[in-house]
Amino acid sequence: MGSRIALIGCGKMGRALLDGWVKSGIKSIIVVEPSGIKGAPKSVRVLKKPGRELKNCDVIILAVKPQIMNNVCKALKPHLAKDALILSIAAGRSINGFKKLFGASQPIIRAMPNLPASIGKGISVAVASSNVKPTQKKIAAQLLAAAGQVEWVKDEKLMDAVTAVSGSGPAYVFYLIETLAKSGEKAGLGKALSMTLARQTVIGSAALADADKTDAATLRKNVTSPGGTTAAALEILMNGEMQKIFDRAIDAAKKRSQKLSQ
Ligand SMILES: NC(=O)c1ccc[n+]([C@@H]2O[C@H](COP(=O)([O-])OP(=O)(O)OC[C@H]3O[C@@H](n4cnc5c(N)ncnc54)[C@H](OP(=O)(O)O)[C@@H]3O)[C@@H](O)[C@H]2O)c1
Repeated sequence: MGSRIALIGCGKMGRALLDGWVKSGIKSIIVVEPSGIKGAPKSVRVLKKPGRELKNCDVIILAVKPQIMNNVCKALKPHLAKDALILSIAAGRSINGFKKLFGASQPIIRAMPNLPASIGKGISVAVASSNVKPTQKKIAAQLLAAAGQVEWVKDEKLMDAVTAVSGSGPAYVFYLIETLAKSGEKAGLGKALSMTLARQTVIGSAALADADKTDAATLRKNVTSPGGTTAAALEILMNGEMQKIFDRAIDAAKKRSQKLSQ
């Protein structure tokens, strides 16, 4: 990639992206991070605050907390080229909001990655402002690919549902491990063994779903013999409240995302 890129904020998510870029051989990276970064790769230039070095950057990746985004953008603006692509990964920060901060002609991409990005197994969903060029979109996709799979949507409103499903989703899966382990304890297993079984079952099933590529419903049917133990449990899960609880949970997260975006 010939683009010169600047990463603003190198915390959990920024660092995950940076490590992925360095691994995939991307050079010309500037990082702006007030406290510096530990073990900065040689190809990366670290600045403690924005400076004129940013004028030559083609893509500016915003990876600071949403609460400080306005101040960070105001400090950045004088140092950026007018056609530099702004790629934000901040939750709840809209394209329109960035247009207000940088000007209507600045090309903006808003993306929502998720936590497994830190091991390159995340999923990011992105939406671009209408003035983003196809080449810029391609570069953004390459940069986000360092964190895992990339999907695009055209309607920015969908980002609230995306946040509810994949942005917050890893926590639901961790909670599934917790609940399964607790049920195992109630069924007579020791705490440690029950947690090991629950954890490894989720890890193994996710890996199998990934390797097999068959849809989830078919995988489930394949392991459910009529009248067997799995069928007995699924009868409770599927005839009960599980779907309704998930619908309510996703709706709550979506509404919270909408509120935070205002
Ligand atoms: N973590 C996730 O799972 C996740 C998922 C999706 C989206 N995101 C989004 O990713 C963004 C970053 O989240 P995170 O979890 O990586 O947060 P984080 O770990 O707190 O990282 C933010 C970094 O920005 C630095 N920073 C503070 N002020 C700065 C400034 N003026 N200029 C440049 N850098 C500055 C912080 O340094 P100090 O620590 O020294 O203040 C910190 O290293 C957020 O907008 C969040 O919504 C995160």
